[in-house]
Amino acid sequence: MKKNFLEELNSSQKQAVLYIKGPSIILAGAGSGKTRVLIAKVLNLIENHFVDPKKILMITFTNKAVEEMKKRIGFKYSLGFVGTFHSFCAKILRLDGNKINLKKNFLIYDENDQLSLIKLILKNINLNKKIYSCLFFK
Ligand SMILES: Nc1ncnc2c1ncn2[C@@H]1O[C@H](COP(=O)(O)OP(=O)(O)O)[C@@H](O)[C@H]1O
Ligand SMILES: [Mg+2]
Repeated sequence: MKKNFLEELNSSQKQAVLYIKGPSIILAGAGSGKTRVLIAKVLNLIENHFVDPKKILMITFTNKAVEEMKKRIGFKYSLGFVGTFHSFCAKILRLDGNKINLKKNFLIYDENDQLSLIKLILKNINLNKKIYSCLFFK
């Protein structure tokens, strides 16, 4: 059994890493070693439990956290997916969006894009002035 990454953990971290019976939630403060636990958990599953790296999904909120996870996993293993919730969902929609009548080349609009689009639609149907005057006289 390879132990190098396990030796770098304190006892609570080790307990979290070694638990493989099902889902678990790890609650801990900033900088307390959560990411270290996740990386060790992945390495433990691959190296000691022979889980196929391609079947592992690591998902988080920010691109910065994604980069950190990728860097810490290193080049040794290529996981199924490491990314943000947004990129993961976008990937699913690109692959299988046709099942809900979504074209492969769909675009994602941010808040500014959405506002510009609504303004353009209102202008095109000549509603913009009416709405503005409505608001003005209220
Ligand atoms: N058991 C430990 N022993 C020594 N250093 C640790 C330990 N756990 C975490 N660290 C170090 O502490 C820092 C923060 O850990 P990290 O896993 O990024 O925390 P979090 O994800 O909770 O913010 C990192 O530099 C990490 O290598
Ligand atoms: Mg972290």
